[in-house]
Amino acid sequence: MSAGPSRAGRLVVVSNRVATPRQIATGGLASAMRAALSERGGLWFGWSGKIAEKAELHHRHEGGIDYATLDLTRADHDDYYAGFANRALWPLFHYRPDLVDYRRSHLEGYLRVNRLFAERLAAMLRPDDTVWVHDYHLIPLAAMLRGLGVRNRIGFFLHIPLPAAELLITLPRHRELIGALAAYDLVGLHTARDLRALETYFLHELGGALRPGGLLRAPDGRTFRAGVFPIGIDTAAVAQAAREAAALPEIQQFKDSLQGRALIIGVDRLDYSKGLPQRFEAYAQLLEREPALQRQVSFLQIAPPSRGAVPEYRRLRHELERSAGHINGKYATPDWAPIRYVNQSFPHAVLSGYYRTARVGLVTPLRDGMNLVAKEYVACQDPRDPGVLVLSRFAGAAQELDGALLVNPADTTEVAEALARALAMPLQERRKRWRAMMDVLERHDLGSWLDAFLDALYATHPARAGQRGG
Ligand code: G6P
Repeated sequence: MSAGPSRAGRLVVVSNRVATPRQIATGGLASAMRAALSERGGLWFGWSGKIAEKAELHHRHEGGIDYATLDLTRADHDDYYAGFANRALWPLFHYRPDLVDYRRSHLEGYLRVNRLFAERLAAMLRPDDTVWVHDYHLIPLAAMLRGLGVRNRIGFFLHIPLPAAELLITLPRHRELIGALAAYDLVGLHTARDLRALETYFLHELGGALRPGGLLRAPDGRTFRAGVFPIGIDTAAVAQAAREAAALPEIQQFKDSLQGRALIIGVDRLDYSKGLPQRFEAYAQLLEREPALQRQVSFLQIAPPSRGAVPEYRRLRHELERSAGHINGKYATPDWAPIRYVNQSFPHAVLSGYYRTARVGLVTPLRDGMNLVAKEYVACQDPRDPGVLVLSRFAGAAQELDGALLVNPADTTEVAEALARALAMPLQERRKRWRAMMDVLERHDLGSWLDAFLDALYATHPARAGQRGG
């Protein structure tokens, strides 16, 4: 618990995805928000995950938390979620302007759903609530709440990268959208690079100003704070789960199936930002360059399908099926498959056992806000015999985990070399690198991330919401 500014009133979390207790809590964010909310009660508001005839609101109280979730109509889902959020913002913010499919109807849907969220939320807010909005689906939410007269403290956290201003300006109506961030009291980002991008954009594109103490001033005079808050994991709990996982029958069976081979593991949503085709190619190069490794190593890639309504994701799925089939066809022997490619998700306990079994954690996104898989892989290792993390320089986690072998994921030869080095790394070096990374994860865990962001948010002045001029 933090000893920072007093936290009176409810915490109200808003995110597109809401993880109710009955849904499997995937990722650190869901458990983080649950921990923050159950600490002293609060409300979690967002999409129900369902498509329905009408945008109906569902209320539920569970585990000390109030959940309010809204259904989306087919048109709202397609324009806002599958459209603008995931075909314009997601690719652009991940440095893939080539994949942006901008349509005015999608932007209109995005604004329409944000307005709908704002109206429904405003009706539920109490004067002393503090609101915390998450991610790129809901950038204009605070501006819309302000328009409805909401004066509460409102914070925003972007879980994905914020790209350089040169890319942001390619988005139609970017001033309206990025400028809307000024309606928040605090904007949190994962890395200093993201913060620089935001400052540069406000200074050069919006004609705003930078004030001392991390304050940004929008041209209309409104000021807001922006800061770097790298998200962490629940390090102690993840490490504990990994220690216990060894006893699970599925982990025992899995280990037997390896027959003593060294395991390389990758775990990612099936998303083009994760650099999976390049990763497969790098692994194929490893087998080609180091024939002695053939039959001695096994690569498990877990890739649960994601956003199947978006065509780019469907194309990627086909591409990876072809690539995995090609590599297995070329190198497999009757008793050895080089790649085990699995389109399925697993409970956290099982995953932590896989991580602990793996000699190498291969995390090579082309861009990533943070990447919690990198952190979880490290926390799951056996301190006596830890594995090696091969990590993309373009994941936010690379700013903290310099004990990893850092690679450019587009340079498949560099990745293949890093894999060979990781597989051959002596125990002493593995321990040293692992200890350095684990120290970071123990110092900056999920709880300290929550405290740092919320302390900074509660330290902002609530009455500023109505300020103008200056
Ligand atoms: C990323 C985003 C999250 C999102 C998650 C899963 O981590 O930052 O906001 O919830 O992907 O994607 P989905 O589209 O299934 O919610």
